[in-house]
Amino acid sequence: MLEIRGAGQRFNEAGWALRDISLGVAPGERVALIGPSGAGKSTLLSWLNGSRFPTVGEIVVLGQSLHRLNTSRRRKVQRQIGTIYQQFHLINNLSVLHNVNAGRLGYWPLWKSILSLLVPVNVPHCRQLLDQVGIGEQIYKPLTQLSGGQQQRVAIARVLMQNPQIVLADEPVSSLDPERSRAIVDLLTQLCSDRGKTLVASLHTVDLAQKYFDRAIALKNGRLLFDKPMAAVTSQDLSQLYESQDQD
Ligand SMILES: Nc1ncnc2c1ncn2[C@@H]1O[C@H](COP(=O)(O)OP(=O)(O)O)[C@@H](O)[C@H]1O
Ligand SMILES: [Mg+2]
Repeated sequence: MLEIRGAGQRFNEAGWALRDISLGVAPGERVALIGPSGAGKSTLLSWLNGSRFPTVGEIVVLGQSLHRLNTSRRRKVQRQIGTIYQQFHLINNLSVLHNVNAGRLGYWPLWKSILSLLVPVNVPHCRQLLDQVGIGEQIYKPLTQLSGGQQQRVAIARVLMQNPQIVLADEPVSSLDPERSRAIVDLLTQLCSDRGKTLVASLHTVDLAQKYFDRAIALKNGRLLFDKPMAAVTSQDLSQLYESQDQD
């Protein structure tokens, strides 16, 4: 489903933000990307959705090497990857309905995209997805009237509208309180499992990673510290991961 081959990222003279990263993710896996702030989690996820090319190495998504594709073929692969972000990346001035419909923009012709801004389109499908994330009654509200947890539910509904094979989530709950965080991770993992979607999520709370994910990929100082089944992660692994980054 996803493969990173010998990839590294250099942003500037300061050195490598990520280096020597190789890993593969099989269909239907639920992978937690863990590690301290600055370890390289967001950068790695940006490789996987094609929003950034690594300085060296190769990223293969659904059997296709992203940097070898022309723009239109790459867009086609990118439709199969949905991304959820920490700060939701929603459009504040628009309604919940419009934000969910934004998940289809990669598929719709321009006329339909423009029409969708003027009149409500696709309402039954949006409503169904919003019901599945527990906020069906909010469909016509402006996004700004929703709480943080509700906004992240809108972001999940938008990804369901996109209906990709792969879902990436970059710290999807780090701006939410612990109870809402648990509910969102529970919802996201359940929806992905039910629909057979491959999920890679970066999380800063290890307890949620351990409870809801099958595999842990741990990054520290831009390197892969371990990559193993979640059940095999020891407390020693975790203390090594989170002890000061600069001492090794
Ligand atoms: N656009 C950028 N330009 C320069 N340095 C960057 C950029 N993005 C990330 N970095 C650096 O790369 C490292 C990894 O960052 P990041 O992937 O955001 O880590 P994480 O998501 O684990 O907190 C950090 O040292 C960060 O400062
Ligand atoms: Mg990050």
